[in-house]
Amino acid sequence: MGEVHLHRRDKRARGRPPQPPAVGAIRRHVVWNAGITALGGLLFGYDTGVISGALLFIGKDFPGMSSIDKELLTSVLLIGAMVGALLAGKIADKIGRRPAVLGTSALFVAGVLLAACSPSYGVLLGARVVIGLAVGSASMVVPLYIGEAAPPRIRGALVSFNQLAVTLGILVSYLVDYGLASTQNWRLMFGLAAVPATAMFAGMLFQDESPHWLLSQGREEQARAILAQVRDEGDIDAEITEVRALSQRSSTARDLLNPKIRRALVIGIALAVFQQITGINTIIYYAPTLLSSAGFGHSAALLANVGVGVVNVSMTVVAIWLLDRTGRRPLLLSGTTGMAVGMLALALTFLLGGSQLHGTGAYVAIVGLFVYTGSFAVGLGPVFWLLISEIYPVMIRGRAMSVATIVNWSANFVVAVCFLSLLAALGDDGTFFLFGSLTLVALGYFYRQVPETKNRTLPEIERDLGLPVDAAERNLFTYTDR
Ligand code: BGC
Repeated sequence: MGEVHLHRRDKRARGRPPQPPAVGAIRRHVVWNAGITALGGLLFGYDTGVISGALLFIGKDFPGMSSIDKELLTSVLLIGAMVGALLAGKIADKIGRRPAVLGTSALFVAGVLLAACSPSYGVLLGARVVIGLAVGSASMVVPLYIGEAAPPRIRGALVSFNQLAVTLGILVSYLVDYGLASTQNWRLMFGLAAVPATAMFAGMLFQDESPHWLLSQGREEQARAILAQVRDEGDIDAEITEVRALSQRSSTARDLLNPKIRRALVIGIALAVFQQITGINTIIYYAPTLLSSAGFGHSAALLANVGVGVVNVSMTVVAIWLLDRTGRRPLLLSGTTGMAVGMLALALTFLLGGSQLHGTGAYVAIVGLFVYTGSFAVGLGPVFWLLISEIYPVMIRGRAMSVATIVNWSANFVVAVCFLSLLAALGDDGTFFLFGSLTLVALGYFYRQVPETKNRTLPEIERDLGLPVDAAERNLFTYTDR
């Protein structure tokens, strides 16, 4: 289908001299592309968030579920996501970005329908793995596809736009969980994700292949015809020359071990680990479970969860607005400080009020949750994804980004799988003190190591990180500016 689409366009392009696209046409194409990104991010957020409310009701169909079974159900998705992120990059290189996105959305549809119809706990577990494969794959392939298709001047904005879509997906899942709480219909909670997944599949059918991927396959004529739809005519030749040169000098996994890029690699990995071990997903996945065992009714717990989702989205909007104004570092440092304050407040309420929260204690706990989540959303949430797209030389950017993404999913898995057991071993107060302390360690690390990238060209960032700056070495690790 995609090829037919391309060839038709190709013939059209060959038959007459290339026409410069109208500004409106470029904008339409870019908006349409952004819509597809939004659906991928939305599904990533929805499918990771929906479990929080569903966990309250799944037990009634599968009696005897232990807290380990619940942890497993939450975290097998993350194993799928690790594998999905690992395979998706390779598949997208081999068969193209477009079929990879189509496959990802088909996997989403299959996984959520299987989850909705699961006759047993085992099948549900399997369905969560399938959904995880799709989530991990979407977290890699959709930004890759969009990044390559987007005009360079708006590529940065689209990266953070993806994080906004993730938080919106989480919020929608919380609203659905809350709306369906009275019917306890956890199957529908899972199944509704089939709607955006189908829309993503259908939308993608009308998209072209990534021009950069076509160039890497030597299919210049097709790439040129597609670029002609989305670029000013004068920019096309330079872009083709650059992409062709880069794809001829493709990097290998060994390039990642080059001591010259070690600092950037370590910073990306550290950000990935800290983004998870400071506990965000213990809140995103488990807040209702936590609140209902602290004495909140199911509805009150799910409503507070919707509050968490709203704070998460709103503060992400604030972050997108501020990132290019105040810079990344002030947001990262103040956000991480706020996270530590929120987490420690939560720990203190449990320490002073015991495991059942009433009156003031319950309110302080909710405020602590909001402060923590809002601070994450304004700092570490978007800044991690943005920085890993900025701090690596272009030659190894794809590989280095996938290392950081896989490490992020792995750390997410470790935290999710341990959380309920940690609660049992250390108590609520001990667990939240642990996360609060790890947040302080993260803050110290960010303060000392993470560079400011606002208004810096990529070669300047390269110099800040001690990366190769002379001409010969630059030749090995070339940056291109956005
Ligand atoms: C993180 C996810 C998290 C989400 C919450 C993302 O940046 O990678 O693990 O669930 O933010 O908004």
